[in-house]
Amino acid sequence: MTAPKLALSDSAVTESTANAIVVGTVQQADGFELAPGSEAIDSQFDGTLTEVLAALGATGKAEEVVKLPTLGRLRADVVLAVGLGKEITPEQVRRASGAAARALTNVKRAHTLLSTLDLQAAIEGTALGAYTFTRYKSENGTAPVARVDFAAENSKENKATLKAATAIAEAVAVTRDFINTPPNDLFPASFAARAVELAEAAGVTVEVLDDKALRKGGYGGILGVGTGSSRLPRLVRLSYKGPKAAKKVALVGKGITFDTGGISIKPAASMEEMTSDMSGAAAVIASVILAAKLKYPLEIIATVPLAENMPSGTSYRPGDVLTMYGGKTVEVLNTDAEGRLILADAIVRAGEDNPDYLIETATLTGAQVVALGKRTAGVMGSDDFRDRVAGIAQRVGEGGWPMPLPEELRSELDSRVADLANVTGQRWGGMLAAGVFLREFVADGLQWAHIDIAGPAYNSGSAWGYTTRGGTGVPVRTIAAVLADIAENG
Ligand code: BES
Ligand code: MN
Ligand code: ZN
Repeated sequence: MTAPKLALSDSAVTESTANAIVVGTVQQADGFELAPGSEAIDSQFDGTLTEVLAALGATGKAEEVVKLPTLGRLRADVVLAVGLGKEITPEQVRRASGAAARALTNVKRAHTLLSTLDLQAAIEGTALGAYTFTRYKSENGTAPVARVDFAAENSKENKATLKAATAIAEAVAVTRDFINTPPNDLFPASFAARAVELAEAAGVTVEVLDDKALRKGGYGGILGVGTGSSRLPRLVRLSYKGPKAAKKVALVGKGITFDTGGISIKPAASMEEMTSDMSGAAAVIASVILAAKLKYPLEIIATVPLAENMPSGTSYRPGDVLTMYGGKTVEVLNTDAEGRLILADAIVRAGEDNPDYLIETATLTGAQVVALGKRTAGVMGSDDFRDRVAGIAQRVGEGGWPMPLPEELRSELDSRVADLANVTGQRWGGMLAAGVFLREFVADGLQWAHIDIAGPAYNSGSAWGYTTRGGTGVPVRTIAAVLADIAENG
């Protein structure tokens, strides 16, 4: 990842030595208008900019990009007009900024006016849209925009916004990098080693349990899933204690570095996407580092189970009974329902720290994608906290919807031999059944949220808005905003 340099600029846009100027267009009942803040540019075109852009096909539709040569009317070479759609919301500014950033490849320096609409959204959208992952390309045809100036006063407040938005975008990029790293290079030990590097650089305390320590500790879920692979499992614990920390928040994320399904093997079609089955782990690791960088006044402890789910002579089998961390037993009926097994161990361990809140996230079920699609996470857990997290997910533009944990599903998880089974006998409500399974391991009275990101974590289609192909970084911005909300409101 080569991130563009981001800076505030309060100089007149007519004086800007950037190569491209970004302006917004807004859809109207009849045609479109330039977004507020574009007056100075329009006057360089003698008030004809809307007309000229319309002649080039501009309509103001969300994420539409129209480029116009300035032919000497500005110091910049081109004006890039990007559609905001009908309404100027923070999310529309973020998406338009992302679409503009993606269209600015090979540009040295851009100056954007979208920051006059919403500075934080413009910075986040630009940085996220400019993200590229080229580590495995021998040749780089295109380079992301090298520097972006955001039209904004150089005030103390705006500088703080620049710092926070840049850090948030970096956390998303770190998450995307983890997800986009192929499974032959990102496996439990290498993932843990990289987490240690990041933690040490950020002054975050880190501890890694290897397979021996996991056996000694009785982590039967992580070991059951992870010992089918020659690359043995790990449990990473990251802790950060901020200044005047009033609340303690536990984070847990699913870290299956590749999910073949194990002995209950998956079909070949699209199996390569299971390289993203560690997206929850990546998101919570990046979130703790982010919280430390922004000095959130909280105590945050992430418990991150890492394993590879493989079929082999040492794999766990359907029919096995695992003794989980804390002593509950689980009958394995399907080795492809592995995420909940490693999460159960981590959730019990996280509960031992007596946190005020638990946020857990996982690419847990195909049923989430069936129910809510590729862009809306399913949020389950204790009613109030679930609704709070889902509301914040929507506010930050990541998408999340509250889902129930129906009581009748619990008995569907009854096992003939063990305390419970890892799957129900039927496939209906699969996302909810996984949530009901996890609830069995959450400490009594703990406020918790489970965010199923099976769809939203990975973009297998083309880029849109600020969402590039591959790992998306969802739900890092939701977690960051929930942490900020807890810091402020308890
Ligand atoms: N990692 C998958 C879930 C998944 C599916 C993530 C599609 C992203 C996209 C998970 O481990 C899994 O295989 N779940 C099974 C559970 C079933 C066996 C109860 C599923 O959803 O099919
Ligand atoms: Mn699976
Ligand atoms: Zn999985």
